[in-house]
Amino acid sequence: MHKDIDFNQIDLNSQPPAAEPARQYYFIAKLRQHVKEESERIGRPLTANVTTFGCQMNARDSEKLAGVLECAGYLPAETEEADLVLYNTCTVRDNANQRVYGRLGHLNSIKKKNPLMKIALCGCMMQEESVIEKIKKSYRFVDLIFGTHNIFKFAELLCTMFESGRTVIDIWKDTSQIVEDLPVDRKYPFKSGINIMFGCNNFCSYCIVPYVRGRERSRNPEDILKEVKSLAADGVVEIMLLGQNVNSYGKNLVPPVSFAELLQRVEEIDGIERIRFMTSHPKDLSEELIQVMKHSKKICRHLHLPLQSGSTRILQAMNRRYTKEQYLALAEKIRKEIPDISITTDIIVGFPGETMEDIEETIDVVKKVQYDNAFTFIYSKRTGTPAASMPNQVPQEIIKQGFDQLLETVQEIAKKRAALLQGKVLPALAEERNVQDNTLITGRLSNNMIVHFPGSPALLGKIINVRLKECHGFYYLGEIDHA
Ligand code: 5AD
Ligand code: SF4
Repeated sequence: MHKDIDFNQIDLNSQPPAAEPARQYYFIAKLRQHVKEESERIGRPLTANVTTFGCQMNARDSEKLAGVLECAGYLPAETEEADLVLYNTCTVRDNANQRVYGRLGHLNSIKKKNPLMKIALCGCMMQEESVIEKIKKSYRFVDLIFGTHNIFKFAELLCTMFESGRTVIDIWKDTSQIVEDLPVDRKYPFKSGINIMFGCNNFCSYCIVPYVRGRERSRNPEDILKEVKSLAADGVVEIMLLGQNVNSYGKNLVPPVSFAELLQRVEEIDGIERIRFMTSHPKDLSEELIQVMKHSKKICRHLHLPLQSGSTRILQAMNRRYTKEQYLALAEKIRKEIPDISITTDIIVGFPGETMEDIEETIDVVKKVQYDNAFTFIYSKRTGTPAASMPNQVPQEIIKQGFDQLLETVQEIAKKRAALLQGKVLPALAEERNVQDNTLITGRLSNNMIVHFPGSPALLGKIINVRLKECHGFYYLGEIDHA
């Protein structure tokens, strides 16, 4: 529930307010009435399921969408056997789209058994015209479609859907609007993502994100700090600052604020014990940020620094605006200044024109940087991006051979890096009960490594010293250190 708003006090006989967020509070109040009447009519509470595809940004958006549904009176449902199912979609690679289409077929069969059921789709995939056309033609049972720029209008869109009884489609091309103070239903009580900026201006030539998430816009530092303070007051100990390119945060604010300055101000907030951020573009990572990280007591020892390719020629075609040598120099500087940091990355294999020699350059960077982990992706052609119309799409054999070699190197190095922590005692945030063995708690180290250790659920949300006893490649088994 939204702490500060009493939805029962909102007068639904008056016109909806024009200003946000008051307008959405009005529609949440209206939805509450609808949900109450429906559930009285059928004699049980209405349920809603939000399923998220994609990145941390989407996960955070889903918490906001779930916040609206909770305020409206829906009970959260773990599965898609629910009265309202919302898919928050991703379109960064084509397989994300295919998964949504596959699951929509299944939703239709559930809907046939529950005539009350409503199906809603939102997120990045909905910003693509071809997707909307396909859904209109082949998935006519979908009731509501909206995009990334108007998610703050979710309550209003749902009201329109219920009142019109028709499919509602509302996609905006872009927006400069940032609506604050909407309800949020956090997945974890003790940790939270927090958007510091939206959109991306980089236009890496393979990437669809700038087209579906729009131009870069930063939130005001005061709004961010206010939100962090209220999260801390609500028991949050770890926050993750989210943006497509956090290193360019604040450049267009008046007056400008750097990401490093923002971090320092967040660090001052009592109650927050850990600060993470995602994602950093290497071209914008400043010396100031390295120094702030180095001297910080709260910023976690983890940096996700997407490489994409180790070949300068391919990096140029990708419009990444750094060379192999510049990236290596940056990584070396970071490792020297912050020796206990873990560096992770994203790599794409099969970008147009890529040869085995280019992939070997990438493998060379992997060996030199010694990544603690790397996410490797096969290039996926995204309609509308510059790379989609480039010649020389790479043959499958090269992709397969290059990908396998790369993965082998990545895994071998990641294992070696993990083993370096053997026997150490390090603080871990107890995040959840282990699903396979509920006598174990799953914790996360500052450097993002996972450790499972025997412990009671009362520890959840606490930071505890854990001895790392047994390395299992990507995670440890450990025990609480009582010393
Ligand atoms: N094909 C494959 N991987 C991609 N990524 C972004 N666009 C594509 C694409 N068209 C990867 C990048 C990025 C991560 C989130 O997804 O590595 O860092
Ligand atoms: Fe895509 Fe590049 Fe922006 Fe990341 S920085 S979202 S890869 S365009």
